[in-house]
Amino acid sequence: MKFSSSLLSLFALVSLVIASPNPAGFVVKDSLNAPQDWARRSVAPSDEHVVLHLGLAKRDQAGLEARLLEISDPDHKDYGEWLTADEVDAFTAPSAETRTIVSRWLEEHGLMDSHIEKRSVSENSISVTVPIHKARAMLGDAEFHVYEHRDTGEERITTESYSLPRDVAPHIETIFGLANFARGSAFRSPIRVLTQEEQGDDSTPGVVKASSASGAPASCNFNYVTAHCLRYLYGTEDYKPYGKGQHIGISGFGKEYANFDDLQLYLKNQRKAREGYKFSVTTINGGHNTQSKPGAEANLDTQVVAGLAAPIRSTYYSTGGSPPFKADKGTPTNTNEPYAEQLDYLLGLTHPPAVLSTSYGDDEQTVPYAYAKRVCADFASLTARGVSILFASGDSGVGAASSCQTNDGLNTTTFLPVFPSTCPWVTSVGATMDFAPEVVAEAKESYITSGAGFSNYFARPSYQKTAVQGYLKTLGTENAGLYNTTGRAYPDVAAQGSRYKIYVGGKYYAVSGTSASTPTMASIIALLNDARLKAGKSTLGFLNPWIYSLNGKGFTDVTSGNSYGCSTDGFPATEGWDPATGFGTPKFKTLLSQALKK
Ligand SMILES: *[C@@H]1O[C@H](CO)[C@@H](O)[C@H](O)[C@H]1NC(C)=O
Ligand SMILES: *[C@@H]1O[C@H](CO)[C@@H](O)[C@H](O)[C@H]1NC(C)=O
Repeated sequence: MKFSSSLLSLFALVSLVIASPNPAGFVVKDSLNAPQDWARRSVAPSDEHVVLHLGLAKRDQAGLEARLLEISDPDHKDYGEWLTADEVDAFTAPSAETRTIVSRWLEEHGLMDSHIEKRSVSENSISVTVPIHKARAMLGDAEFHVYEHRDTGEERITTESYSLPRDVAPHIETIFGLANFARGSAFRSPIRVLTQEEQGDDSTPGVVKASSASGAPASCNFNYVTAHCLRYLYGTEDYKPYGKGQHIGISGFGKEYANFDDLQLYLKNQRKAREGYKFSVTTINGGHNTQSKPGAEANLDTQVVAGLAAPIRSTYYSTGGSPPFKADKGTPTNTNEPYAEQLDYLLGLTHPPAVLSTSYGDDEQTVPYAYAKRVCADFASLTARGVSILFASGDSGVGAASSCQTNDGLNTTTFLPVFPSTCPWVTSVGATMDFAPEVVAEAKESYITSGAGFSNYFARPSYQKTAVQGYLKTLGTENAGLYNTTGRAYPDVAAQGSRYKIYVGGKYYAVSGTSASTPTMASIIALLNDARLKAGKSTLGFLNPWIYSLNGKGFTDVTSGNSYGCSTDGFPATEGWDPATGFGTPKFKTLLSQALKK
């Protein structure tokens, strides 16, 4: 990395910033201390460029959410009447006043309409690239530093705090990549190559696990979970999909590429009847489709969906935006956040995917509050279009032991909830293991523990109040002070998340995680949509009010195990909803009859 400024001028810069952290007329928009796993290396060179990706205030988010709660309420007369893109835009486009004030502010800094590089369809998100010295002037002398992720060496330029002029601040909800240390990590265990012996033959039973011997489908008496096993376990084996009118979206971020040949190998071995099925790939924001570099997460997600939901079409969305930062002059550092670009793209589609499966997330506290609010509001817009949005609940139970502290400078011991699962407009999926009965997936056997928790950012939505209050009553004082008793609780549901047998670069691997559970649940939802579409009904869209109204009907309750973490027993699974596995794992046939009733 090259630095154009001398050490002396760097010091001068720092002391200047400390002397006037927030000039008169500016208000702090967002601030976040860098989490412990990020080291602040140096002041960012002032001629380096950054992308300012502005999330403009929406005209009527409250109106959108109120309408969404009506059309997702199975007892409302308008249930299932999802909105068109234009109907969403009518709520979410910026007002004339917002447009005027933001344009005037940009013009004051020499940024004309022609400098705007990207504009979302609803025009509530725009990007401009500026040198850091200009960004500082625009953002109340915000300090930009080079940060390095201690484990991976990943570098990024960002701020820990930024401000906007008092009159502009209400019109910009967030600047997506600033004060943001989210990494959009994939939730899967490190994958393990299977030995020749372990690979076995998928058509004959392998070694029966003692705990899964009785009551499990014969096809699940394996050391490893296959498509065959999942279809019998969850009851989709007899369902003949119609396959029209929808597609399943699978999110990919970072350098995760889904491989076409590996899918054929998976189908040949685990779902012969669907050999030849292909997913399509859409690249967003400079994402790639590098067939020579298959990714374990990407392959897991695309293989599971194909095995369970083919012939329903699926699309792998490879979103760029987190390249390793290089301080080359003139190369703008990207916004380094996974969701905004993908959401802008999906919200612009006339036919978005009916189901979106995303196996990525971050500790909520590494995501700035204004950013989380905005992205969550964008998920509300997308699910209002009739898209069921599923997110993995995370693989560290209530938090990885070494990191269970607040990053507000006080280092208070706390559980660490995971975003976006904490957003009330998405459906969060936890992980189980074993078969008869299924229990909470935990690290000793599965290398991962089903993620669980309560948001510090989002209040508990009305649809889950009864279920969560019931659980908290049973829980009593256990974990008191370690979690937020009024927050949005997750996960909502669960599915197998242990030892899936997948193919990467032509080899067999075992992989665990809510990363596996999420495409499994997404496939089940797509099959339910399939039956609804065939019956002339709409897609299931925003799922949570429907799921909570079933109150466990259509799910196998998981009552054994814990979401361990933070050196505690975490949250125990209990009868009924619990924050280890939600309502439990799907019973397709029951869900099908329920889904066709509304
Ligand atoms: C909090 O923890 C960090 C990292 O371990 C340490 O550097 C810092 O001094 C701690 N702060 C307090 C107030 O204990
Ligand atoms: C707990 O969650 C609520 C939202 O439900 C939030 O307002 C509050 O700040 C949170 N408490 C903490 C300590 O983060």
